[in-house]
Amino acid sequence: MSTPVSLHLLTETCCHGKQKAIHVYDRGAMTKIQFQFENKNVVVTGGASGIGFEIARHFLQSGAQVAIWDYSQEALDKAQTELGQWKAQLKTQTVNVTNRDQLAQAAATLPKVDILINNAGITKDKSFAKMTGEDWDAVIQVNLTGLFNVTKALLEKFTAPEGKRIINISSVVALYGNLARQTTSLQNLASSV
Ligand SMILES: NC(=O)c1ccc[n+]([C@@H]2O[C@H](COP(=O)([O-])OP(=O)(O)OC[C@H]3O[C@@H](n4cnc5c(N)ncnc54)[C@H](O)[C@@H]3O)[C@@H](O)[C@H]2O)c1
Repeated sequence: MSTPVSLHLLTETCCHGKQKAIHVYDRGAMTKIQFQFENKNVVVTGGASGIGFEIARHFLQSGAQVAIWDYSQEALDKAQTELGQWKAQLKTQTVNVTNRDQLAQAAATLPKVDILINNAGITKDKSFAKMTGEDWDAVIQVNLTGLFNVTKALLEKFTAPEGKRIINISSVVALYGNLARQTTSLQNLASSV
């Protein structure tokens, strides 16, 4: 059986003079692979905070044009301030991934997309006995249907001959389970569909 390769993604970005790059390490071999994203258009959902914010920041550092789609205006304002040094490359859009009309409008403002990071997600983790139908529906709506909505809205925007790059942020909880984390498991299992 082959050993799974654990890539240490987006762990380091550096700018040597004009060179901008994302470095990726294979933890096993410590091989450093260098990526550059100048002239690449990236959309990060839920990119105004948390993991999505860091993903957006690293793409910006690496020269990409980044659109952050998030439903929190407050978080978007904060992100815009914190990412101010890349304002020429950054577009922040107030978008709820559950709202297909909003998604269509936001997609129409983008000339093309090379990379989509489906990251927006919520958790309602609690024991099954305490979980309500509303908790369940909310997670499915954002984390599962949201991923479908965003990908559908942007599908025609991927025009590069090398194809579509769509990354769905998931969790090991989908594979191994965890106490009182049924909704997270479900979301992340769904993300791998
Ligand atoms: N943090 C972890 O330990 C962890 C572990 C496994 C998986 N994940 C997954 O990684 C992703 C990011 O997690 P995080 O910890 O950074 O979360 P977070 O709560 O810090 O950030 C999530 C972002 O998504 C946005 N968002 C939520 N619902 C949205 C909606 N309907 N439309 C648009 N934007 C929306 C929020 O405003 C926020 O900016 C999630 O999908 C989460 O399930 C996180």
